[in-house]
Amino acid sequence: MKIAIDGPGGAGKSTLSKKLAKHFNLVYIDTGAMYRAAGLACVRRGINIKEDTEAAISIVDSATIDLIPDSAGQKIILNGEDVTALIRTPEISMAASDVSAIPEVRIRLVEMQRKLAETRDVIMDGRDIGTYVLPDAPIKIFLTASPEERAKRRFLELTERGEACKYEDVLAELLLRDKNDSTRAFSPLKQAEDSILVDTSEMNFEESLSHLITIIEERL
Ligand code: DC
Repeated sequence: MKIAIDGPGGAGKSTLSKKLAKHFNLVYIDTGAMYRAAGLACVRRGINIKEDTEAAISIVDSATIDLIPDSAGQKIILNGEDVTALIRTPEISMAASDVSAIPEVRIRLVEMQRKLAETRDVIMDGRDIGTYVLPDAPIKIFLTASPEERAKRRFLELTERGEACKYEDVLAELLLRDKNDSTRAFSPLKQAEDSILVDTSEMNFEESLSHLITIIEERL
C-alpha cells in the first residue's frame, strides 16, 4: 500500500498524514522533514544556498539524514543528532525550499525516499510524491487550501508553540515558498493528473480527516 499526499505548505499534509498512518496502519514518511534537515545543514555552515549551490550540494552529499518512525510520527536525525525540534522555524522553511530547488539534492533525497517506501506500506507526504517519487502509488491526494487559510493555521501553530510572529509575515513567507516550490525547473510542486484534489479551506481538522478516510476507503 502506498499513499501519496502532495500540496503546498500549510495545507495540513503532515498532521493529517500522521493520523491517516495510524488509522490505516501505515508508516508515515514526511519528505519535507528531509529537505528541512538538508536546509538546516546548510544554514549551520552559513552558506547562501541560492548563490552557492556547489557548497549546498557538497554539504548535503556528505550529510547523513535519517527518518526514524516513532509514536509521535517520526524523528529526523542529521549527522547523528536529533534535530526534530529545530526544523520547523520560518528560517529553516525557506532554507528547505531553496535547497529543494537544486536537482542534485533532490536526486539524492528522492533515492532515500524510494528506498524507505520499497519494503513498507507507507503514506508519504511532500510536493512531488505523486508526480515523481512514487508515480505508481495507487492512491494520490493533492491537498490544498487558500493561502489565507493556510497562513492562519501556520500562524496559530507557531504562536501555540510560543514563537513570536506576525500573520502578514507568515502569509508572505507561504506565498514566497509556493512560488519557489511550484516554479523550480526540476520536479516542481504540481498536481498529478491522476490525483484527487481536496481543498480543506472550508473544513476543520476533523472534517478534513474523515473526508480523507472516506476517499481512501473507497479506493482500497
Ligand atoms: O512540507 P514542508 O513544508 O515541510 O517542506 C519544506 C520544503 O521542502 C518545501 O518548501 C519544499 C521542499 N519539499 C520538496 O521540494 N519536495 C518534497 N517532496 C517535500 C518538501
